[in-house]
Formats: sequence, C-alpha cells, structure tokens
Amino acid sequence: MTRVAVVGATGAVGTAMLRLLHEREGGIPDLEVVPIASARSAGRELHGGLVVQALEEGVQEGFDIAIFSAGGSTSKAWAPKFAQAGAVVVDNSSAWRMDDDVPLVVAEVNPDALDRIGKGIVANPNCTTMQIMLPLKALHDAFGLTDLVATSFQAAGGAGQKGMDELADQVEPLMQRRDDLVAGKGKALEGIAAEVHAKPLAFNVVPWLGSEKDGGYTDEELKLMNESRKILDLPELRVSPTCVRVPVFVGHSVQCRATFRREVDLDEALRVLEAFPGEVVHNVPTPVEYAGRDEVAVGRVRKDLSDPKTLNLFVVGDNLLKGAALNTVQIAELLVQRGVVGGARAAA
Ligand code: A2P
Repeated sequence: MTRVAVVGATGAVGTAMLRLLHEREGGIPDLEVVPIASARSAGRELHGGLVVQALEEGVQEGFDIAIFSAGGSTSKAWAPKFAQAGAVVVDNSSAWRMDDDVPLVVAEVNPDALDRIGKGIVANPNCTTMQIMLPLKALHDAFGLTDLVATSFQAAGGAGQKGMDELADQVEPLMQRRDDLVAGKGKALEGIAAEVHAKPLAFNVVPWLGSEKDGGYTDEELKLMNESRKILDLPELRVSPTCVRVPVFVGHSVQCRATFRREVDLDEALRVLEAFPGEVVHNVPTPVEYAGRDEVAVGRVRKDLSDPKTLNLFVVGDNLLKGAALNTVQIAELLVQRGVVGGARAAA
C-alpha cells in the first residue's frame, strides 16, 4: 500500500489533488489518501467520505508521500518533519524551490532530477513557469535556447479561492458604473476592495503580482527567471519577465519570445511541439478553453519578423492543474514508478 498525505486538502489546489489522486488512469495502485488541513477544518468530511485531520504534532508519521499545498510558511515548518518521518514530500509552495538539495521537477521535462532527493523534498515549480517549460524544453532540445522574454496574463485563481472570490465580488458594483469604466479617469475603482490583487481586477488589467524585489521586479517575475534556469539546467539563460494579472478565473497565458543558438525552422518547431508529451498545438488558445484540461496549449507560433533565431509563441494552461495539482500528482506517480518511496513500508 502507498499512503499519501495531502496537506492543504481543503484548498483550491488541494481539492484538485485529491480528485486526481483517485481518478487518474494508471495512477498510484493500492493507494490510501489522508487529507490534512488547519485545525479549523479538522473532522470535516470531504466529497468521497475522507475525514480531514489537523496538521498537528504526530500526524506526520507513517506516510510514503506527503503532498503540500498549504502556503510557504506551513511547508517550511512541516515538510522536514514529514521527510524525517520517512515520507518524500512534494511541495507546491515556493519555500524549497531554489534549495540546491531540492529537485525542481516538471514531470515531462526533467524527471531524472528525482534521482537526487537530498532532503527528502521535491519542489513543484511556480504555475506560470511550469506551463512554459514544456514548449521551451521541446524547442531547446531542437535549437538551443539562449534568451527568453516572457509576459504573463495570469488568472485570479493563481491566488487561490480568495483570488477568484475577490474578482467575482467586483463584477456587480463595477457593472453599475459603466460610464466611469469608459471615461471616468479611475473613478470607477473608488471604494472597490482589492486585498488579494494589487488593484481592482474586474474589467481591468493589473501589471503587478507579488512583492517588490530588486530593480523594480516582483518576486513572481524573479521566480520565472530563476526557476526556468534551474529546471532547464541553463544557469546562463537570459530571461526578461513581466507578470500581469487579468480578470480570468482559471488559466494562465504567457507570451514567450524565445531566442535560440540555431536558426529556427518553423515546420521543425511545430513538429517538436506537437510530439512533446503533455501539450497540444492549438492556433488561438484561450484560458477559458483550457480551464479544467490537463494539457498545456501552444499557439500563435510565429518566426520573429526581424530575427531568424527567434520564435514567438502563446502558451495557455490550467494553473490549478498542470500549473499545480496535476504536476504534483505526476511527481508522486513517478516516485512510485521509480521505486523511490517506501518510508511507510520500511517503518511498518
Ligand atoms: P483550511 O481550509 O483549514 O484553512 P487556498 O490556497 O485555496 O487558500 O488553500 C489553502 C489550504 O492550506 C487549505 O487547505 C488550508 O486549510 C490550508 N492551510 C492554510 N494554513 C494552514 C496551516 N497553518 N496549517 C495547516 N493547513 C493550512
């Protein structure tokens, strides 16, 4: 039997993780799942009859795998405890991603990084970075990636359930102010609460995600640079990131301008993109069409108008699925397939 803890099981990503663990074809055989969340949710019965346990001392014992999606501070404090008790932790927060002893894995891109799990922790990449890794890996293997300009259009759901709720709550009040939305010089936004997103998001676009870091960039933008370099094993990759929040519930989009060492042949580029697992080529992909789907869509594939070594592409994916829950569950499956896990069995 493989015992899997899901920490953060009541959240938007945790809910998707539970569903995927149980529903995926060829998933983990002989599986037992234990949902864990804060003490507030302890005892709650989830869809399917599983009862939520509180994250408290002692609960970490007896697992093969512990999947975390309960925020960075919870992961920082609790991932080492589960690892010490014998589980391999798959962590969806940013807490461990840049640790040299922690592999940062996209299942289709760098699964062999799972051979080096120093601390017993594997990190799941940032949702925006995750989805562009699939086409960029396919193209890198063919042409040799050197430079990336990435501009994201990120959904409200990237900030969890509360991010979607805040967007939904803004729609009605703003619909009452249509004249001000047309020519009100910002008056429409007066009194509209914006606590999760940096500014009111409904009928708007907000070019700021996360907290300020060096040189006017945000932490979300630096994740795009640092995580891309680590996953693709390209420490010198030049990345120019801009992250933008858009009024979409689920589904991130990213415009990528990728430059390569070799001149790009468009037919060959399309062939390698189509052949890569976990993605589809779709001419004009939109996030609403890919919300709820596992695949990442790659569209608008065009050679740059001035540089024969550069391609433009538009990448769309469900940030809660491939961007988060799906990849963590794929990593858990790989751990089982590769015979990496077995803490609970060894301890039993
Ligand atoms: P709870 O529902 O009990 O608060 P989301 O990202 O959608 O907001 O979900 C966050 C998830 O992380 C929820 O399952 C939440 O549980 C859980 N969580 C948040 N803080 C803690 C904590 N301190 N200890 C355990 N679980 C937590």
